[in-house]
Amino acid sequence: MSILIVNNSRWLNFWLDALKESRPDLKVHVYPYDGPPEEIEFAISWNHPLGAFKQFPNLRCIASTGAGVDHILRDPELPAGVQLTRVVDEDLTNDMATFTTTLVLSHVRGLFSYKVAEATQRWEPKTYQRPKDVKVGVMGVGVLGTETGRQLKALGFNVQGWAKSTKNIESIPVFAGDAGLADFLATSNILICLLPLTKETANILNKTTLSKLPKGAYVINVARGEHLVDADLLEMIDSEHIAGASLDVFRTEPLPEEHPFWAHPKISITPHIASITNPASAVRQILANYDRLKQQKPLLNLVSLTKGY
Ligand code: GLV
Repeated sequence: MSILIVNNSRWLNFWLDALKESRPDLKVHVYPYDGPPEEIEFAISWNHPLGAFKQFPNLRCIASTGAGVDHILRDPELPAGVQLTRVVDEDLTNDMATFTTTLVLSHVRGLFSYKVAEATQRWEPKTYQRPKDVKVGVMGVGVLGTETGRQLKALGFNVQGWAKSTKNIESIPVFAGDAGLADFLATSNILICLLPLTKETANILNKTTLSKLPKGAYVINVARGEHLVDADLLEMIDSEHIAGASLDVFRTEPLPEEHPFWAHPKISITPHIASITNPASAVRQILANYDRLKQQKPLLNLVSLTKGY
């Protein structure tokens, strides 16, 4: 049994090094692979070319190197019976929470608008908002959303969450489902999207939902580009219903040069770096699952193929 790594990103070598360091004796192949396909039972993957896995008849587990698995599930040709796992890691969780709280603080203290003023040497002091007067709505209260909420609360923000179904999270009120969405949106001064990408959540940030936010609300998307209808956000910002947005994820990445988000003074862009898996730390749980698969034990951090998270 050997491991196939399918990852055409710049992080490939970090993963190879981490695997080699943890298990020097392990057989690790890199896709594209032209050895005997039946040898591959375990794959580690990020943004694989669609259809890449269908050639491996014995593939039993695909481990996402990130928190999300939408990049795997969008492949209609996954081998039957394959199990999917994702990374649930302290560094990944804390990195996401510190990044989103940085964005929230930057917005309430006006740092994004001072950056724009600085470019034209304008000295324009403005009043600012204090955390106790701001309510942050976190859409998606899984591991990342819950920690984000917890850190924002510790900074003094009012925090509420929204989830597909009812959830009890200590000291964070959670609105649930379609029935709770309008009230959640109407009271969120800052909206953070941390939802998994599924059929139900694609395009969830659209004209209808964004217009339910209070006037002057700020939008942060650190989940997936497909959650947001780009043209609807631009329209809502240009009509001044939405004050601005910080976006880390996009429908096409890298964000194409000609995309109107780049030049928009009220949109701040980062290149999908909110939370990058630390291979040195996450490789431990991936190898633990490799061992569990061999020993026919239940895998850790399993994803439901029907729910998509
Ligand atoms: C990053 O986008 C991840 O899913 O970990």
